[in-house]
Amino acid sequence: MNTSSLPRIAVLATGGTIAGQAGDASKTAGYKAGVVGVDKLLDAVPALGSVARIHAEQIASIDSKDMSAALWTTLSRRVAALLAQDDIDGVVVTHGTDTLEETAYLLHLTVKSAKPVVLTAAMRPSTALSADGPLNLLNAVTVAASKDAAGQGVLVAFNNQIHSARDVTKTSTYAVDAFRSPETGALGFVQDGRVEFQRTVVRPHTVASEFDVPAGQWPMVEIVASYADVSRVVVDALVAAGVKGIVVAGTGNGSMHATLTQALVDAMKHGVVVVRASRVGAGHVMRNGAANDDALGSVSAGTLNPYKARVLLMLALTSGVKDLQRVFDMY
Ligand code: SIN
Repeated sequence: MNTSSLPRIAVLATGGTIAGQAGDASKTAGYKAGVVGVDKLLDAVPALGSVARIHAEQIASIDSKDMSAALWTTLSRRVAALLAQDDIDGVVVTHGTDTLEETAYLLHLTVKSAKPVVLTAAMRPSTALSADGPLNLLNAVTVAASKDAAGQGVLVAFNNQIHSARDVTKTSTYAVDAFRSPETGALGFVQDGRVEFQRTVVRPHTVASEFDVPAGQWPMVEIVASYADVSRVVVDALVAAGVKGIVVAGTGNGSMHATLTQALVDAMKHGVVVVRASRVGAGHVMRNGAANDDALGSVSAGTLNPYKARVLLMLALTSGVKDLQRVFDMY
């Protein structure tokens, strides 16, 4: 086979269970994430050689629960730099499942390229019987090598499905089909080398996004949940610590306990931005729905979950956006 005409895909490894190792092949929990290097991950999938020419880089070797904003900056810049090269046709990022949706949305809003960017991961360590990582990696490279994936924003290829970075979320602690896009469904599927999209992403992303990673420090934005008998201790401590924004993981449709609401009103008097999201996991939070945002001065997160709302708020504060509801309605 003449492979010189195959697309050239950069695979950037960051760690995760896909690079996890257990002492026993029957173990799918109690392993160490992020220890197997990118070359070994690629060696486990010989079929990659007939899909793409691979350029591999080890960006990090972490359990994604420990993802940092500094690593987001490094990753976003490296993905953008590679995609700016004429000899790179797409990028795949291997990642842990735990914060994959946050990193994916961050890249969706900051990488200014129409070339495909695809994240993938695994629920079982690389040493497990029936490890899911090798097929997920093959599928991710197959999607990244597909012309149909261009211009779709950052994608997540997992368990034969293709999801948009904006909509996808982890919905299971152990199941192999751990990712869903609750409000919208998957964009399409990848099966036995066939990539098929059934819908496109309508909200702006990548080349149409107004955001970039900060040149220096990221603004401090934290998430606070509302629940029965919640106190104001956390909000008051965050204000004292200099927080710039608080995303509320509200009950139901973004409602907030009266005690928390009073603490947040006081926080806003100190210039803190408050965004209402929901802890429910599906559905949207409507402006002036469960709370009067006009009167309170808060912003509603729409269909973004609290973790993605935090990503957007950090980027918007970095860009000095004044009309925050606009960006939550738009992105
Ligand atoms: C991680 O997120 O790095 C560990 C868990 C996983 O990848 O499934």
